[in-house]
Amino acid sequence: MGKGQDLYLKAKKIIPGGTQLLSKRPEMFLPDQWPSYYEKAKGCVVTDLDGNEYYDVSYMGIGACVLGYAFDPVDKAAEEAIEKGGMCTLNAPEEVSVAEKLLELHPWADMVRYSKAGGEAMAIATRIARTATNKDIVLVCGYHGWQDWYLATNLGDKSALNPHHLSGLDPRGVPKELKGTTLPFLYNDWEGFLSLAGKYEGQIAAVVMEPIRNDYPIDGFLQKIRHYTEQKGIVLVFDEITAGFRLTCGGSHLALGVNPDIAVFAKGMGNGYPLSAIIGRSSIMTAAQETFISSTFWTERVGLCGALASITYFQEHEVEKHLESVGKRVQKIWKAASEKHTLPIEIGGILPLSHFGFVDKEPLLMKTYFIQLMLERGFLASTALYASLAHTVDVLDQYEQAIFEVFGIIKDAMIAGNIKEKLKGPVCHAGFQRLN
Ligand SMILES: Cc1ncc(COP(=O)(O)O)c(C=O)c1O
Repeated sequence: MGKGQDLYLKAKKIIPGGTQLLSKRPEMFLPDQWPSYYEKAKGCVVTDLDGNEYYDVSYMGIGACVLGYAFDPVDKAAEEAIEKGGMCTLNAPEEVSVAEKLLELHPWADMVRYSKAGGEAMAIATRIARTATNKDIVLVCGYHGWQDWYLATNLGDKSALNPHHLSGLDPRGVPKELKGTTLPFLYNDWEGFLSLAGKYEGQIAAVVMEPIRNDYPIDGFLQKIRHYTEQKGIVLVFDEITAGFRLTCGGSHLALGVNPDIAVFAKGMGNGYPLSAIIGRSSIMTAAQETFISSTFWTERVGLCGALASITYFQEHEVEKHLESVGKRVQKIWKAASEKHTLPIEIGGILPLSHFGFVDKEPLLMKTYFIQLMLERGFLASTALYASLAHTVDVLDQYEQAIFEVFGIIKDAMIAGNIKEKLKGPVCHAGFQRLN
């Protein structure tokens, strides 16, 4: 056992659930063996508590560090903010600079509010939409965080949100009275959307959705939703928390050609420094004045300065082109290795958010073995890759070599039927579940 695994055992006794983010639980990768904690992270190199170094060719700070860990231009801006004082009775002037920048990038929007995390920003957006329309029902598509308004979707049917990125979200603790206030529809299912929206005609405050995540929209899906919501006076909210700043500088909707009424950013916008933004049309955003939305740390300066430097970098360097080429290369590596070793996989995702799944009756067993073998070769890897500026050709060359080797080993173990025996710990988890 390394120091990281030891520390995690201790953590589980004093931190319910072990970590603050489900996606960072070691159980989601390699139970009992995942390094769990980091001492240092720079570029895409992560050093664990025992001094081992790995290339992170997985989630890069769960999607937060698009420019790479400890990215100098952003860190410099954050350090300056600390030197000048990160918190004060007066407001940070960067609130206005970041707002101006976001509005310049999104000319359809007029106003901006901030918070720190993605989930809370989505709760703010939903509250604003409900206030502006004086209606309650929200239609959702995608993952939007941990708050009551969203988990209420699962009050009627616990599996309602299963197709939306994270399965097993138990709505315990969410007031049962919220049942029926949030209802899900599937991406690219226009008929399904239409019949759901028709059923609740006149009662819908907002359609809240990720404009893109796994698949590109087909048959004008986003345009049709835009047209419908406009006709019916429904607020269209795009959750850009994961998709934003990956297809272009700003919201993915700019690349997809559809403007919402509200768009929400977090994660990649500050390259690891916490800031989320809710931007929108003034006709709707002014409702934020009629309801109480307020919090001390939403005014904090370091996140604002980190975001300002990140957005400026995105603007000046066409980062999305690099992310696209990383995604293309990685999908090509997976495909070629799978063909070489006749190891069936399914590849999906938009290029900067690529993923694959083993086609097998025990895909989680295969995934666990894959992560174990990649870790032994010095990679924090999973079956997904969130492309980063730090993923250089050299890192990808080494990743390619490891993938070909590992796919071959998995295939041999499949033929021998002994993958389970080769695992050094339990099989990884797939979604939300209680830890023992
Ligand atoms: C699309 C989307 N919305 C909301 C969230 C929640 O953001 P946070 O984890 O910062 O609360 C996430 C996080 O993964 C996300 O991907």
